[in-house]
Amino acid sequence: MILVTGGTGFVGSHLLYHLVVENNDVKAIYRTNSSLENVKKVFSYYTSDTSLFKKIIWLKADVTNVPDMIVAFEKVTQVYHCAAFISFNPKDYREMRKVNIYGTAIVANLAIDKKVEKLCYVSSIAAVGDAKTYVELITEECEWNKEIDNSGYSITKFGGEMEIWRASQEGVDVVIVNPGVILGKGFWHTGSSKLFSQVYNGFNFYTEGVTGFVAVTDVVKAMINLMKANIKNERFILVSENKSYKDVLLAIADGLCVKKPSKKIKPWQTAVFWRVAWILSKLTGKEPLLSKYSARSTHTISKYSSKKIQETLGLKFELLEKTIKSTAHQFLKEVS
Ligand SMILES: NC(=O)c1ccc[n+]([C@@H]2O[C@H](COP(=O)([O-])OP(=O)(O)OC[C@H]3O[C@@H](n4cnc5c(N)ncnc54)[C@H](OP(=O)(O)O)[C@@H]3O)[C@@H](O)[C@H]2O)c1
Repeated sequence: MILVTGGTGFVGSHLLYHLVVENNDVKAIYRTNSSLENVKKVFSYYTSDTSLFKKIIWLKADVTNVPDMIVAFEKVTQVYHCAAFISFNPKDYREMRKVNIYGTAIVANLAIDKKVEKLCYVSSIAAVGDAKTYVELITEECEWNKEIDNSGYSITKFGGEMEIWRASQEGVDVVIVNPGVILGKGFWHTGSSKLFSQVYNGFNFYTEGVTGFVAVTDVVKAMINLMKANIKNERFILVSENKSYKDVLLAIADGLCVKKPSKKIKPWQTAVFWRVAWILSKLTGKEPLLSKYSARSTHTISKYSSKKIQETLGLKFELLEKTIKSTAHQFLKEVS
């Protein structure tokens, strides 16, 4: 029996589809009934057969609740741990530590206790360090540097990885994936998919920072294949292409047939903007439109190597252009 955490999220719902279509016995945890509708929506991108969704055994559980998770782990042999709290708002740091580190420690402890055969953890490129020089690509060997001003998200994803490595030292076989920015169908108003709704709604700015991007379908393919392969205690960067935010935003606008973002934002402008956004959020109690860390990341040039996963699994990533086109196509179908 496979247990999936975060199955009601963007990555987890695409993963669930691929697991059930392969006839695996799958259990997934959820917190609210409304989130199950998101999973049904993602399943509908692949099939009109509603019986596949019904194959999943759903258990109400919070990853930070030990009694809930003890029940969730009953008869489980493999775990995909996708649940996380993603935020760049400093006010969410405590909650992120609770979900991403403490929650992962609970998953790790139960995997050890229940002698789970294999555990796959979805980490992030945020938990990988920088290359030694600007010309080198970032690899799995680049150590995360705790001395620099890391975002709370980065700290907690690194902390989560530490819990998974602890489980590996206690005898659980683990694989960790470190995806770049994940693009794909669904969840248009949260996380990375929000880029599509923002561009559609007339977002007119771009920056020239560079980062790694990857299709959600490639992320879940890599996860499933790593769990099947005779590979353990390794981590893998998942990035199909390193691209500037400018190129990605223009490609999204192209796919959505809307006006392309045309105003280049300079680093000093984002530096002013996040400070103003911070003050406004303090005054209104609302989420800041931009945080210090997301502002900084939009100007940073970070290029990643996916050589390790390509050589290990022979994985051929989908071209980003194709991912953006098909995602934009689905978005347009849903708004029209
Ligand atoms: N999206 C990206 O670009 C990206 C890039 C790199 C790595 N990642 C990693 O990929 C994983 C999945 O991300 P995503 O984009 O799918 O995020 P998402 O759409 O926000 O999904 C997060 C999932 O975690 C669950 N969750 C949050 N707190 C929980 C708790 N206390 N107990 C149980 N479940 C909880 C959510 O459940 P509810 O539905 O109940 O809220 C949801 O199912 C995360 O580990 C993230 O760090 C994402």
